[in-house]
Amino acid sequence: MKFFIDTANLVDIKKAYKVGLLSGVTTNPSLVAKEGVRFEDRIAEILQAVPNVESVSAEVTPDALTAEDMIAQAEELIKINGGDENITIKLPMTLDGLEACRYLTEKGVKTNVTLIFTVNQALLAARAGATYVSPFLGRLDDISEDGVLLVTKIAEMFRIHNLDAQIIAASVRHPDHVTRVAMAGAHIATVPFQVIEQMSKHPLTDQGMEKFAADWKKAIQK
Ligand code: E4P
Repeated sequence: MKFFIDTANLVDIKKAYKVGLLSGVTTNPSLVAKEGVRFEDRIAEILQAVPNVESVSAEVTPDALTAEDMIAQAEELIKINGGDENITIKLPMTLDGLEACRYLTEKGVKTNVTLIFTVNQALLAARAGATYVSPFLGRLDDISEDGVLLVTKIAEMFRIHNLDAQIIAASVRHPDHVTRVAMAGAHIATVPFQVIEQMSKHPLTDQGMEKFAADWKKAIQK
């Protein structure tokens, strides 16, 4: 399973990229709004900050409700930085979003269909030619449903029907989500930087490092 980072914060994106972990970046209108920056400028900055990743998702704005409006926005977004091939157009899981997805896929543009909460939605998005489908785990868990189970079912359904859309497990809240979606067959988990940090830690790792340091110091003193 690959890692994308789920943020529009450049500092976090650069930190994760520097570690060498990143295969991509996902943003959404809420994440960009939190940064208080112009959307297109931030997408351009992100594309420059993470060369060689496979995908940087830029979502059409929430006021683009028709396929025509989504396509018009996508056509501007794909020109950013002179037409970076990593830009991925994130589209909502609506019939208009699917129509825009099919159109953009046929033009060779990568797409990410977002706000997926059922297996049927994932099937529709895959059949519309989506490069990526994004089921939202945390938001399902928030309403007492099982987000990981949804990823398990989508992965199984894609296997049965040989669908090649990649599953991005989204709305990931903690390291256990990551472990479970990796075992469930998600191709990618998109995670906040904080979750990457939490995944890297274990109290026994810290204790082990302290003990090695103490033993080393004693040996050197002899
Ligand atoms: C995915 O692409 C979304 O940006 C994201 O994972 C949403 O997560 P949230 O439910 O924490 O807002």
